[in-house]
Amino acid sequence: CGIVGYIGTRDAKDILLNGLEKLEYRGYDSAGIFVTNEEKDSHLFKAEGHISALREKVDDSVKANSGIGHTRWATHGEPSVRNAHPHQSESKRFSIVHNGVIENYQEIKDAYLDDYELISETDTEIIVQLVEWFVETEDMTTLDAFKRAIVALEGSYAIALIDNENPDVIYAAKDKSPLLLGKGDGFTVICSDAIAMVKETDQFIELKDKEVAILTKDSITIEDFSGEKIDRAFYTSDLDSDAIEKGEFPSYLAKEISEQPSVIRKIVQKYQNDKGELSLSPDITDSILDSDRIYIVAAGTSYNAGLVGKNLIETIARIPVEVHVSSEFAYHTPLIPKKPFFLFLSQSGETADTRQALALVNEWEYPSLSLTNVPGSAMTREASFNLSLHAGPEISVPSTKSYTAHIAVLAILSEVIGLKNGSLKEAFLIEELETVADAMQRILDHTEAIEQLSTEVLSYSSHAFYLGRGLDYFVALEAAMKLKGISYIPTEGFPAGEMKHGTIALIEEGTPVIGLVTEEPVARRTRNNLQETKTRGAHVLTIAMEGLDQPDDNVVIPKVNPLLSPLVSVIPTQLLAYYCGLHRGNDVDKPRNLAKSVTV
Ligand code: G6P
Repeated sequence: CGIVGYIGTRDAKDILLNGLEKLEYRGYDSAGIFVTNEEKDSHLFKAEGHISALREKVDDSVKANSGIGHTRWATHGEPSVRNAHPHQSESKRFSIVHNGVIENYQEIKDAYLDDYELISETDTEIIVQLVEWFVETEDMTTLDAFKRAIVALEGSYAIALIDNENPDVIYAAKDKSPLLLGKGDGFTVICSDAIAMVKETDQFIELKDKEVAILTKDSITIEDFSGEKIDRAFYTSDLDSDAIEKGEFPSYLAKEISEQPSVIRKIVQKYQNDKGELSLSPDITDSILDSDRIYIVAAGTSYNAGLVGKNLIETIARIPVEVHVSSEFAYHTPLIPKKPFFLFLSQSGETADTRQALALVNEWEYPSLSLTNVPGSAMTREASFNLSLHAGPEISVPSTKSYTAHIAVLAILSEVIGLKNGSLKEAFLIEELETVADAMQRILDHTEAIEQLSTEVLSYSSHAFYLGRGLDYFVALEAAMKLKGISYIPTEGFPAGEMKHGTIALIEEGTPVIGLVTEEPVARRTRNNLQETKTRGAHVLTIAMEGLDQPDDNVVIPKVNPLLSPLVSVIPTQLLAYYCGLHRGNDVDKPRNLAKSVTV
């Protein structure tokens, strides 16, 4: 979920709606804004679905100069207008937006709010009722009641609250969920991510856990629960507001897929030292060199990138690597050797499951490195070290450029460590990554054949398979996730040789089976497995690397270093998913049920 707030002299509705649109990557099941003005003339607008639906409901004639807004990814309670934020107290005096999960909401309800008839099914509503309860029952000021309510909460939250008796103030607080406060000339703002408000200002302060902020149009006051004031300087966000626009592209997904060659080039440039060599800070390399095993922990696409990373690190730097799904790690912890080193991969830097695993690793006092794409995100601070993906804002919910960026940075890490521990004799990566960027570009310059395959073969199918061995299998997993997520066609990524042990029973006349063939030692075997599905009626499509290609291959990708083949072979699979989604009329940037940052 994402939240915004504005207090100033301009039209609050517009600023909140524009801000929420930029936060839609955090969820888009439903949305709402509460706006008010000095005359306490307040309005609440909510809608199910995207911000565009909310926009249609908002009455243009309303005059408001302060307000709060929310875009939701449903956890407690189905996506509906009733469950959409802002939520209001019984008297409607207080309105609140909340990102996070309140774990003890039932206990709070039982302790304080037994008589209240809750309107929604959300865990959020109890917070606003609780504030009102303290104000009415214990005669507290709003600020004291807000703090008192916050202290009672367990779980994660970023909250903004307005008291309509005093609409010149917004109260905010946070724990675990991100919250930024911004200031411009005669206004202040609140947002989950600077992206939402960077059009208004580039001056931000980060609110820290268990702090409370009091915003007026001219001031931001931060204090702790005891009332102790906290001084914090503003920082200037270097987010380029153009980089968060689609520009000439029809979607963010199309834009971000096409940016990948330049992202790879930028990463190479960013990780070069004065001598033109790839390098990392000695603190990081020393810590890794001191370890006997590396653990990669990540979710979703970042996990899939981690699988490729394992192969790179083990092959180039000769350190054993295990890859774990974040949501499993905390509860099914592997047996850890004496000197582990942890790598946390996360585009957003705020995926809740990955952060939970990182918190555990911090408790155990093991060294860790986060690889993130959002500067200043939670995991950049929580890990011992951080490396940036330098991919630029990734806004489309399906991840594309962060996948390739993760792999490129892991390749760099492998080379730097390999050279230091003697597993690698000579640097090779700069040149190879340049070849990769060129190869990506060549595919992106000629997408017609891929578009045709996706619309003619894939988009009408009821299910599909991606098959590969080794690295191609890892790419098959990512390719399948992308096709599912964007086109809604049930798709499995499978190790080619495993099909015959059960899954091949699903092959019917015309079932699309897409084979990835980029690894010489297994190319013939993969082709045999593809043939086995063809014999049973599959419509086999092949993506093969130059040198291993055959006359009837559907997509031939330029030859690159085999270790880096995923960076290139994934591109046609992203395009297949993209065109398929378009052809089926889906919103490719915001596929149903998904969110980009899963902060719960
Ligand atoms: C969500 C997104 C995925 C992403 C995953 C992990 O599910 O929809 O695209 O791969 O979270 O996100 P992270 O920001 O940690 O890489």
